[in-house]
Amino acid sequence: MSVPATEKDARLAVVVLAAGQGTRMKSAHAKVLHPLGGEPLVRHVLAASAPLGAERTVVVVGHQAAAVEAACRAGFAVDFALQTEQRGTGHAVRVAVDAQLADFTGDVLILYGDCPLLRAETLERLVRRHREQRALLSLLTTVSDPHGYGRIVRDATGHLQAIVEERDASEEQRLIREWNPGIYCVQSRFLSTALAGLTANNAQGELYLTDIVAAAVARGEPVVTEPVAPAEVEGINSRADLARLEATLRAEIVARHMAAGVSFLDPATAYVEASVTIGADTVVGPMVQLRGATRIGRDCRIEGNAFVTDSELADGVHLRPMVVITESRIGSGAVIGPFAQLRPGAHLHEDVHIGNFVEVKKSEIGAGTKANHLAYLGDATIGRESNIGAGTITCNYDGFVKQRTMIGDRVQIGSDSQLVAPVTIGDDAYVATGTTVRHDVEPGALAFNPKPDQRRAGWVEGFRKRMRSAKS
Ligand code: UD1
Ligand code: CA
Repeated sequence: MSVPATEKDARLAVVVLAAGQGTRMKSAHAKVLHPLGGEPLVRHVLAASAPLGAERTVVVVGHQAAAVEAACRAGFAVDFALQTEQRGTGHAVRVAVDAQLADFTGDVLILYGDCPLLRAETLERLVRRHREQRALLSLLTTVSDPHGYGRIVRDATGHLQAIVEERDASEEQRLIREWNPGIYCVQSRFLSTALAGLTANNAQGELYLTDIVAAAVARGEPVVTEPVAPAEVEGINSRADLARLEATLRAEIVARHMAAGVSFLDPATAYVEASVTIGADTVVGPMVQLRGATRIGRDCRIEGNAFVTDSELADGVHLRPMVVITESRIGSGAVIGPFAQLRPGAHLHEDVHIGNFVEVKKSEIGAGTKANHLAYLGDATIGRESNIGAGTITCNYDGFVKQRTMIGDRVQIGSDSQLVAPVTIGDDAYVATGTTVRHDVEPGALAFNPKPDQRRAGWVEGFRKRMRSAKS
């Protein structure tokens, strides 16, 4: 996708304004760093403009400049301009032009870093119209509740006249419902002149970028307005805005998966990050978070209250309620939970069962093996068709190094056993209930600790007597 040039020499630069603190966020972090759908706001804007293939993208930074630059760099080719003092949106563009675009001739697409739902197709449409009309300046406008936004002022014949900020608007102008999303395409030559002419003669004492609109109209050359849906261009000014857009974005992602054949029992409480893939006929229950590089196969059943991050589930995996799964791989037909935790490096083969209060870390578990109750399996390699009894613990850490536990195929580990690593338990071995295993167990052997199971006849009566007399 790129913008067709109507002029042979059409060149494009992008300027993204991201220097403001975002006072209304009441935050120690710069506004554009706040995440939406897991990604900082400013990266959404860069992602929307990247497909246009501009020869240069300049991000204006100020508040927490280093952090904002770092957030922009990964995956995007961008230059930066430092606005040390935030003197308004017009001043910010002036800083960008002076620092990075002094020798640039062409069209400059100007975007605000707090407008994250913007789509590439909309920007392409704006630039295309701008070039078709050979406009001096073109901008998107939209119509809805205009609270807080600059109003689009038109004359009696509907021709654009100016943008007036809410704080500078008259009673009558405030009634205008057409507002300015803050997305402009401007001929660079006009832009430089118009920026030089800005004054801070307004309610906020700032240099308003929006004043270049009236300057363009005054020249009598074409100025284009292009309509856009309000939902796409809502800006983020507060935490409430952020939460609202998060909900919108989330609903869009879930709708996309539903259209591709995934069922959601309660779409409103499904939190699926944009990067996640889910196979058809998988059913996702309430309160599920799927994050990062997670890939879910087909026909999986995720009952609810599951937190899955950077993990791979093959087809037909069943997650019962209350599971936390991080950086793990799960084979087809496996059943996990309720109340289970798979920590980084858990690799479960097909048809493994992990039940309640079982924690698995950095361990490979062979096909069909079961650990159904109360166990810690860390740094272990376990074969196929084995059964890990309730209360089994791999004692993998001596305070200095982590040691491995090796368990073969068809092994039975009795309840309440401690496997003191490093230790190897051979194929078909049995470990008796309540055994502390300190030495390797050869294949087919029974391991047990001789713990005589003793009785003292009549002991209870004597005990109660002693206790009662001590009490009185
Ligand atoms: C601005 C527009 C308003 C529009 C609204 C859309 C102006 C004067 N007003 O108002 O017409 O309806 O956006 O959301 O442009 N920034 C800088 N340096 C500065 C000031 C701002 O980089 O000195 C950046 C901010 O970080 C932010 C963007 O510019 O990303 C917009 O600034 P903000 O203060 O949110 O402008 P609004 O008051 O919302
Ligand atoms: Ca804003």
